[in-house]
Amino acid sequence: MKIMKDVTEAIGNTPMVNLSRITKAFGVEGNIFAKLEYLNPGFSKKDRVALQMITEAENAGLLSPGQTVVELTSGNTGTGLAIVCACKGYKFIACMSKGNSVERARMMKALGAEVVLVDQMPDSVPGQVSGEDLALVEERTKQLVKELNAFRADQFHLESCNHAHEYNTGEEIWEQTDGNVDVFVDFLGSGSTFSGCSKALKKHNPAIRCYIAEPATAAIYAGKEITDLGHKIQGGGYCMDLPLVDKNIIDGYVQITDDEARGTARRLAECEGIFTGFSSGANVCAALKLLATSEKGKNIVVTINDSGLKYLSTDLFEDM
Ligand SMILES: Cc1ncc(COP(=O)(O)O)c(C=O)c1O
Repeated sequence: MKIMKDVTEAIGNTPMVNLSRITKAFGVEGNIFAKLEYLNPGFSKKDRVALQMITEAENAGLLSPGQTVVELTSGNTGTGLAIVCACKGYKFIACMSKGNSVERARMMKALGAEVVLVDQMPDSVPGQVSGEDLALVEERTKQLVKELNAFRADQFHLESCNHAHEYNTGEEIWEQTDGNVDVFVDFLGSGSTFSGCSKALKKHNPAIRCYIAEPATAAIYAGKEITDLGHKIQGGGYCMDLPLVDKNIIDGYVQITDDEARGTARRLAECEGIFTGFSSGANVCAALKLLATSEKGKNIVVTINDSGLKYLSTDLFEDM
């Protein structure tokens, strides 16, 4: 591998691993192929989106040298943006909820970002960011963009986010599996991983089925009753409309509880040596559920979204 001009060139082209130990441990038929997105420079898949948003904005003349970049983030997109902005010389301000883990804010600051932390709703729980909490962060983000005439790297609305996964992650999945993929399943935050990968995969083979994983108590897309907006699966499950998601490409729904997401993340660490967070636990748990039911014997692809190191202040690996 040649010397890269900067660390942004190390974003993407992540390895894919067959989770044969976990499928064996759960006694299911079929394969789970996991794309190790925590090996990106910011230790999450959102580095891809950060790079694509900035590159497309520059190319479209929406971001000029000296302009500030502002983003509403649960931490991972902000970390990616901090890295990309550091390399490209933009000032970056991350606006995030106090409900997200402290490691994320610290890491962004270390990477030169300014971090604006927004209080949660009075009845919200630290570590559980609700849609209402997110609305407060959105308000503050809009204010900052206006005050500073900044470029908003908006992970919930910019098509470039879908492109990051359509042109890159999805194509990599197709190549790495030699096209031997039957199912893709993903826990939604902005939905860009789901949308981008599903679009790329279905373009190659329209028969590939794409499922979404949702928190069991807030499965809005599956049309289930919403019983609790709070959950521990950081990075998604916000229970709100996601403009980047084309609802027509959703082939099915899987619900995951906090305990299932956590339990599966722990099993991933213990038996596969993959140290990751709640949402990756949710993805793998959803794949296991599908292999045990409607997708028995199939090849299912998931992303391992970020590093477990980002959750050391939570109960994810506590008292194991
Ligand atoms: C840890 C983690 N998991 C899952 C997601 C959801 O990914 P997407 O926004 O592509 O739906 C995010 C998004 O920020 C995340 O940070």
